[in-house]
Amino acid sequence: MKILLVCLGNICRSPMAEGLLRAKVMERRLSITTDSAGTGDSHLGQAPDRRGQAEMKKHGIDISDLRARLFTGKDFERFDLLLAMDSQNLRDMQRLAPSAELAKKAKLMLDWSPTDKGGDVPDPWYGGSEGFVTVYDLLDASIDTLLNELGDVR
Ligand code: 4NP
Repeated sequence: MKILLVCLGNICRSPMAEGLLRAKVMERRLSITTDSAGTGDSHLGQAPDRRGQAEMKKHGIDISDLRARLFTGKDFERFDLLLAMDSQNLRDMQRLAPSAELAKKAKLMLDWSPTDKGGDVPDPWYGGSEGFVTVYDLLDASIDTLLNELGDVR
């Protein structure tokens, strides 16, 4: 199974989601491959935001290897599940979908949130490091719920 995490810049929220998912997949020994992408092109090739890297490091997860790339319509063919961090990301992704059928593979990350179901992962770009704590907590709980629901992916 292949899962893609998507936000605007691919330097704050989606690399944190990718790092968390990658760590949990390893821990659970599942056969899930992970990637992330951004709907906007202002940070292509860049490593994750330092504030996000620091928050992840507090929890023992290193995401320094990740690099921002642009989301494309082809991603609907390459991935089984495409998770948008907010509803604007979801609309921007669906506009690029090759077909209405493939567009259904895109969902909101927080559809799996125990506390903020169907909501947006707030954009932490403008603000201090506390926004990244919120992002981490929302993603940590939602990805646990998602993996529990997916079960034993081999
Ligand atoms: P992300 O955060 O979408 O979570 O990666 C942002 C990164 C950069 C910008 C906005 C959001 N920006 O405006 O450059």
